[in-house]
Amino acid sequence: MANPYIALLKLTSIFIFIASAFEQCGSSKTFTLVNYCKETIWPGITRSDNHSGDGFILKPGQSTEYTAPDGWSGRIWARTGCNFDNSGNGKCQTGGCGSSINCTGPGSPPATSADFSLGELDFYDVSLVDGFNLPIAVKPMNGTGNCSIAGCDGDLRQNCPSELASKENGKVIACRSACDVFDTDEYCCRGTYGKPATCLPSNYSKIFKQVCPVAYSFALDDPTSLITCSKADFAVIFCGSRNQTSCSYKDKKVVCNGSSNSKAYKAIPQSWLILLLFSHGMGPAIAKKREKKGRVRKQPHEPRSVGTFYCLPLG
Ligand SMILES: *[C@@H]1O[C@H](CO)[C@@H](O)[C@H](O)[C@H]1NC(C)=O
Ligand SMILES: *[C@@H]1O[C@H](CO)[C@@H](O)[C@H](O)[C@H]1NC(C)=O
Ligand SMILES: *[C@@H]1O[C@H](CO)[C@@H](O)[C@H](O)[C@H]1NC(C)=O
Ligand SMILES: *[C@@H]1O[C@H](CO)[C@@H](O)[C@H](O)[C@H]1NC(C)=O
Ligand SMILES: *[C@@H]1O[C@H](CO)[C@@H](O)[C@H](O)[C@H]1NC(C)=O
Ligand SMILES: *[C@@H]1O[C@H](CO)[C@@H](O)[C@H](O)[C@H]1NC(C)=O
Ligand SMILES: *[C@@H]1O[C@H](CO)[C@@H](O)[C@H](O)[C@H]1NC(C)=O
Repeated sequence: MANPYIALLKLTSIFIFIASAFEQCGSSKTFTLVNYCKETIWPGITRSDNHSGDGFILKPGQSTEYTAPDGWSGRIWARTGCNFDNSGNGKCQTGGCGSSINCTGPGSPPATSADFSLGELDFYDVSLVDGFNLPIAVKPMNGTGNCSIAGCDGDLRQNCPSELASKENGKVIACRSACDVFDTDEYCCRGTYGKPATCLPSNYSKIFKQVCPVAYSFALDDPTSLITCSKADFAVIFCGSRNQTSCSYKDKKVVCNGSSNSKAYKAIPQSWLILLLFSHGMGPAIAKKREKKGRVRKQPHEPRSVGTFYCLPLG
């Protein structure tokens, strides 16, 4: 005869287990993309597993939400001067990633990028290693840890050295990196210049650094550029400078002043199906198989006595 007290305890622990499963599976992260530029931009986002990605339009003053699952790493940048037809085909002056509004490859340089690697501790940076097309500031919201604002204070297009300037109709539309223009080991930090002791700031990267003090201005510009933060949501602000962006939570959504929400964009799966598998034998095998397909995230601390759960993202 089973002790009713033990039975209740077991039931309670199963409830706690399921509740924690929901919490862990749902630990996605919100990126709020804000366009403070005077012109329309078409942000691009890469996915972790391959170079395909997403893309959409963002008009001046608009903001949009993008949800990434826990553990996502990738980059966010802006395409400028794009012309897409009704079926979403066309091209861009900078940052293009294939011939569709949805990216089919990485953004082509020159383009400023915001890079993320999410985990227990999130790593993020703004990078000018592939050049600059517009200022970006990355502001973590409600995180714990360092959580500094990454990015730019000004617009490098206005003081781009002429030998690096990328022009369209006489107007500077982007500033290329010295590596991209001169393709030398020294500027690209390759070969004997590939080590921290030899990969040094150049007179060009110093100009980049002045405009974007918390951004990679050359390949190994780590100490001042790579930042960490835990449990934050992120605002990615195009054409905003580090000190003049004020964002706050309103109804659990990140709102930055001067922007209006356009739409919630959720191409990265956001809702999760919790699968409880009470059979020990088949659990890990299924997980392995699904992990290979990149569809399932196995949770690190599975309580053994109850079973194993897996989170299946629902597209
Ligand atoms: C890239 O990943 C996405 C989703 O993860 C998938 O739909 C797409 O088919 C993949 N593309 C390639 C070329 O593997
Ligand atoms: C781009 O992707 C979105 C969702 O990821 C899809 O709804 C849309 O139809 C795609 N557009 C084009 C032009 O492929
Ligand atoms: C940077 O240095 C190179 C060679 O050392 C020189 O030719 C170039 O004019 C310099 N550029 C700037 C912007 O100082
Ligand atoms: C945060 O990290 C950056 C880059 O690593 C560093 O420059 C900065 O001093 C740190 N700030 C704090 C408050 O620790
Ligand atoms: C913001 O930064 C710019 C450039 O660094 C500076 O000129 C300005 O005074 C700063 N504004 C505030 C409010 O700190
Ligand atoms: C963010 O932090 C502020 C101040 O600490 C707090 O009032 C607010 O509830 C937090 N918002 C969320 C969504 O965590
Ligand atoms: C946002 O607010 C800050 C401080 O209140 C201000 O300096 C800045 O100009 C504002 N930005 C926009 C785009 O309204």
